Amino acid sequence: MSGELAVRFRGVEKAFRGEPVLRGVDLEIPVGCTFTILGGSGSGKSVCLKHMIGLLQADAGQIEIHGRDVTRLGERGWVEERKRFGMVFQGAALFDSLSVLENVAYPIREHRGDSEEAVRARVARCLEAVGLPGIEALFPAELSGGMRKRVGVARAIALEPEVILYDEPTTGLDPANSRRIGRLIRQLQGDLGLTSIVVTHDMELCHAVSDWIVLLREGRIVARGEAAVLRDSDHPELRAFLEGSDDLPPPALAGRQAPGREEADV
Ligand SMILES: Nc1ncnc2c1ncn2[C@@H]1O[C@H](COP(=O)(O)OP(=O)(O)OP(=O)(O)O)[C@@H](O)[C@H]1O
Ligand SMILES: [Mg+2]
Repeated sequence: MSGELAVRFRGVEKAFRGEPVLRGVDLEIPVGCTFTILGGSGSGKSVCLKHMIGLLQADAGQIEIHGRDVTRLGERGWVEERKRFGMVFQGAALFDSLSVLENVAYPIREHRGDSEEAVRARVARCLEAVGLPGIEALFPAELSGGMRKRVGVARAIALEPEVILYDEPTTGLDPANSRRIGRLIRQLQGDLGLTSIVVTHDMELCHAVSDWIVLLREGRIVARGEAAVLRDSDHPELRAFLEGSDDLPPPALAGRQAPGREEADV
């Protein structure tokens, strides 16, 4: 991977209560691509995303956002840096007591001094972009799961981010709605020139949207490559993951991940 990078991790380590979750993660996410992080439940995918927006701080290693070292950035610095990111949280995370209008308007009101008219116009544009025009007055409880996710995407793009993070954007959706989300991810990337970082277990989504794929396992990236290449790769851990096999070989046996060794490029 070469060219300008939106996000770069070098040897990022993170432990919780002495239990290591990230054991030296290296990531190079090029600007303008869709980059998918695969990995089993609890492998640290959401933890990786939270480091990208300063919700967690690395114990060791280095994180760069668009070339800027943010590893030790303070909260005030992150408030600015986060404006460049949109985040679609695992489970949509809408405010149930607020209308769709107020949900999507939330980051706009928080960060910009726009007039009420400008806020409403911006919300309308975001809802149009996700294929849900005119639903401002509805409340989250009145929406289907797929609509909630799309409102979550509308909120994430409200501040015109350069990078959008999607944490399990299709969980709980039927196949048609999952495909709609996949098309939306591609369309936003194309229309707005966004960098999209997707965390998912959904292999159909992964194949539909990804330019690059990495597999996170036992705290490290154990496979990485272009989506089209990885799809046909015979990398054992990746194959086991893609085929949904329960008996992933331990990294040492797979011969890929002796301590201190570079992960395999595939
Ligand atoms: N704030 C936290 N405090 C303590 N432990 C945490 C915290 N955040 C994550 N963890 C732990 O880190 C590990 C990785 O969590 P993470 O949420 O990144 O998993 P994930 O790969 O996103 O899984 P899933 O696919 O189920 O969402 C888990 O063991 C989790 O319990
Ligand atoms: Mg997660």
